[in-house]
Amino acid sequence: MKKTLFIMLCLAAALPAAAASPQQILDAYAAEAKKANPAFKSFSAEKGRAFYVAKQGATGRAASCSTCHTEDPKAGGRHAKTGKDIRPLAPSANAERLSDAAKVEKWFGRNCNDVLGRACTAQEKGDFMSYLMSVR
Ligand code: HEC
Repeated sequence: MKKTLFIMLCLAAALPAAAASPQQILDAYAAEAKKANPAFKSFSAEKGRAFYVAKQGATGRAASCSTCHTEDPKAGGRHAKTGKDIRPLAPSANAERLSDAAKVEKWFGRNCNDVLGRACTAQEKGDFMSYLMSVR
C-alpha cells in the first residue's frame, strides 16, 4: 500500500514540468484513502484544522503541529527544538508549499512520528492538506 502511494505521488510530481499542484497531491491521497477505506467520501478542512491544533500530550514529543507551525498557517513558525525559522505552511502565503510530493511525504513522515508517535493515515494527511489549502 505504501508502495502504491509512493508511485502515485511520483506520478503526481512528474506530471506538468517538475512541480505538482496541491490538488494533484491531494488526489493521490484521496485514492490511497479510498483503498484503505472503501466508504471514504472526501477530505474535511474542518477536521484538518482540528488535527493541526490538537494537543497530543505524550511526554518527549512535540505537542501539536501548531507547536512549530503556529496556530496560523499563514504565519512563519519556529522549530520547537532547534529554534530555526519555518516559513508559512499555507500555499496562499508560501507558493512553494504542497507542490513537491516527495517533500510533502517526507515531512508528514517526520512530523507525524514526532507528534503522534506513528505515521499519519492518508485520511489525516488529506484533511490536513485540505485545511492548509482552504486558508486564504
Ligand atoms: C518540531 C517541529 C515541527 C512540528 C511539531 C511539526 N512540523 Fe511540520 N515541518 C517542520 C519543519 C522543520 C519543516 C520543513 C522546513 C520547511 O519546509 O520550512 C516542516 C514541514 C512540513 C510539511 C511540508 C510542507 C511542504 O510542502 O513544504 C508538512 C506537510 C508538515 N510539516 C506537516 C506537519 C504536520 C501534519 C504536523 C503535525 C502532525 C507537523 N508538521 C508538525 C517542523 C515541524
